[in-house]
Amino acid sequence: MKSPLKILVVDDEPIVRESLRDWLENAGHRVLVADNGMRALELIRQEEPRVAIVDLVMPGMDGIALLKQAKEVCPETEIIIITAYGTIPTAISAVREGAYDYIEKPFCPEKAEILIEKLVERQRLVEENISLHHMLQERGQFENIIARSSKMRQVVEVIKVVAKSNATVLITGPSGTGKELVARAIHAQSRRRTRPFVAVSCAALPESLLESELFGHEKGAFTGAHSQRRGKFEVAHRGTLFLDEIGEMSANIQIHMLRVLEEREFTRVGGNDLIKVDVRVISATNKDIKAAIAAGQFREDLFYRLNVVSIDLPPLCERREDIPILAHHFLKRFALENQKEVRDFTPEAMDFMMSYDWPGNVRELENAIERAVILSTDSCIQRCELPQDRRVGESWPRQTQSLREMERQHVFNVLSQCECNYSKAARTLGISRATLYNKIKSYGQPERPAEKSVE
Ligand SMILES: Nc1ncnc2c1ncn2[C@@H]1O[C@H](COP(=O)(O)OP(=O)(O)OP(=O)(O)O)[C@@H](O)[C@H]1O
Ligand SMILES: [Mg+2]
Repeated sequence: MKSPLKILVVDDEPIVRESLRDWLENAGHRVLVADNGMRALELIRQEEPRVAIVDLVMPGMDGIALLKQAKEVCPETEIIIITAYGTIPTAISAVREGAYDYIEKPFCPEKAEILIEKLVERQRLVEENISLHHMLQERGQFENIIARSSKMRQVVEVIKVVAKSNATVLITGPSGTGKELVARAIHAQSRRRTRPFVAVSCAALPESLLESELFGHEKGAFTGAHSQRRGKFEVAHRGTLFLDEIGEMSANIQIHMLRVLEEREFTRVGGNDLIKVDVRVISATNKDIKAAIAAGQFREDLFYRLNVVSIDLPPLCERREDIPILAHHFLKRFALENQKEVRDFTPEAMDFMMSYDWPGNVRELENAIERAVILSTDSCIQRCELPQDRRVGESWPRQTQSLREMERQHVFNVLSQCECNYSKAARTLGISRATLYNKIKSYGQPERPAEKSVE
């Protein structure tokens, strides 16, 4: 049997309330009723019903006022407005304000049934998805993000907290470290999860096209604008807009962005009408934005707007504990996709993966394993099936690698061999613990790995 849903019916007329209640209860749902807006709001706050069927005209708080407040209190509750013939234009504006749809009074039973059933089915799918999510989380998976290292576990904790808010998030980190994956996870954990997640790369388009991609354009705004087009900000309404590679945004677009983030409204290219949107912005960059600000290439005020919460993803070589679990995760996936019976890595292959620097980070590891699975002829991936061209310390050409960079790599390798025991690492390197701390600090490492033991 399909799982019952919690549905709230709000009407000041007892006959409408009771007939809807009977019908919905007969269909197997759990029905709550309220005869006024204030009581309804209280029930929405406490019970978080999936669907609310709300009369438009009621004494005290009317349907529109209730809709607006309900969207603040519990955005997941979808609202159907009940309207009499004379109030249809108001019902239409309620739909613009976020109601799912409206039904006319007196009800045409078939029409009302179809509409309610459609919404109920949709909400049931949402519900089932949410419980699936919880199940996966309990099994130690978090939105496809594999996180064993303390740094990545911290990232996951930040995602969980930040997903509950509407705060703008800036995700930084080198290429291939999982920035987009994190942005999707925030969206999927947020109340916006049933709304669109729209990704735009600021590096993929020239300035003029990017402007119309983001904000849309009116017909005839420029040569080739044959019809009106909605921009990604509009498409992402009530959802999340993921702006990738923001370091590539031109000065003009930066001004536009600042205005949208401040006012939550904008005009289409070539248009005059102000368009209001409710969009959560998550942005990402693999550039050093602070350096771009210092060089006058990125607006500081925009940076502060985008960077309300920041998440910095460390390169893979700074969280080697994640390598084995990531490697097995990709191995399983590609073995399945390619219908191969590969289940493990030889010790030499694992040694190589643990010591290689992975300049392309998780993406490089993923690609290397995909290739290895395709090439493999055995149940274990061999060392020779993994990348041959670059070995540890050779991810940058020798001639251009500075002494400091070599020192940094050596220090981290030793630290990792000593399992983050600072005293042991300092002894191996022949320096004092204080010198080791200072060196690590000077490498721009924001925090040191947790220490195993202190002498
Ligand atoms: N922690 C992780 N667990 C599982 N898969 C991961 C993880 N991090 C990254 N990946 C995978 O690695 C690949 C690259 O990730 P993603 O595209 O999110 O990186 P990115 O930081 O946005 O890269 P770029 O800067 O090049 O755009 C994706 O296929 C992603 O699924
Ligand atoms: Mg990316």
